[in-house]
Amino acid sequence: MEGGYRIPGLLQPYVNAQTLVVRSPGRINLIGEHTDYNNGFVLPAAIDKAVYVAVDKTGGAAYRLHSVDFNETVELPAADIKPVPGHWSTYILGVVAQLTARGFRVPGFSLTVYGDVPLGAGLSSSAAIECATAFALNELLGFGLSLKELALLSQKAEHEYAGVNCGIMDQFASLFGKKGNVIQLDCRSLEYTYFPLELKEYVILLLDTQVKHSLASSEYNVRRRQCETGVSLVQEKHPFVTSLRDVTPVMIEECIPAKDIVYKRCRYVVEENIRLQEGCRDLLGGDLHSFGKKMYATHEGLSKDYEVSCTELDYLVTSVKSRPEVIGARMMGGGFGGCTINIVQQESVEKLLSELTPAYAAAMGRELRHYLVKVENGTSIIYQ
Ligand code: GLA
Repeated sequence: MEGGYRIPGLLQPYVNAQTLVVRSPGRINLIGEHTDYNNGFVLPAAIDKAVYVAVDKTGGAAYRLHSVDFNETVELPAADIKPVPGHWSTYILGVVAQLTARGFRVPGFSLTVYGDVPLGAGLSSSAAIECATAFALNELLGFGLSLKELALLSQKAEHEYAGVNCGIMDQFASLFGKKGNVIQLDCRSLEYTYFPLELKEYVILLLDTQVKHSLASSEYNVRRRQCETGVSLVQEKHPFVTSLRDVTPVMIEECIPAKDIVYKRCRYVVEENIRLQEGCRDLLGGDLHSFGKKMYATHEGLSKDYEVSCTELDYLVTSVKSRPEVIGARMMGGGFGGCTINIVQQESVEKLLSELTPAYAAAMGRELRHYLVKVENGTSIIYQ
């Protein structure tokens, strides 16, 4: 055990004296949604739910992958790896393919994965698997890659093997997380600043819609293209602009016709970057209420302008908005399902859940799950 993190019991049978065990967490994001691939800012943190990989060198020319959660084993020749969309192994193989593409030789290994990051809940379980694998192989095989390189490589694995053109936030948060801190990340320069998340009598409560929308990845890629279209429209007048990061609200008004769908997509992103900067000032000044209001505004933008919410997410945010014990709430992550993130007064959590859980079931016909999350460290070796 290192850094206070233990090997989960279900992984123990796969660990021997030579095994390397790496923990890589899921993430939350306080504010700054759909800004990362627009070169903007995000404010994520790693959480106390993680993916664990137990890895051994086998030396041969085959990879043996086992998932404890799915009770499934995959064995394949090292020379013949390809994406298996929708399958847990694709995230591991995607990382191997990226290492190989960079000229590293990845000899045979066996890897067992176990995790307690809820799948499809918008907590980046896929980034956690990628980062755990990348970190472990880098260590085991002595490639000497930096954490930033591992983040970029894992992001590329997601693009090429999972087919989602994601930004850098999830992988960065998983690798760089720091207990008790949020990470203000500039997705253009990859410069980052930690600052303590001081919640006082409040806690972070995730409400899981239990909706896993099939549109999530295709619509995600569509939003990305719409933002690029917006940039090319602005460029006609402002050639120095290379991403929405450089765009101001005035430029949007000048360059993109208001009736165009691209107008509201870009307006949301530009406003969200501004909101994040102001939100960081709120957090530094200890003004959680003002920060919470910005979370509600983000939700409004994601729902109405960016259109990545869904009925269930909107229901949850609307239900808590009038409650004084919930000072901020919004959908989190890519959207079309997954969780809302809520800042809730600790002593009111139980009462809130006892009212909201049956109401959600009655209105949406689904079970409401919840997770009280703590901010934890990023990827690390927990056994060697
Ligand atoms: C997903 C992506 C991230 C980010 C968010 C939206 O989680 O993987 O890169 O774009 O959606 O903020």
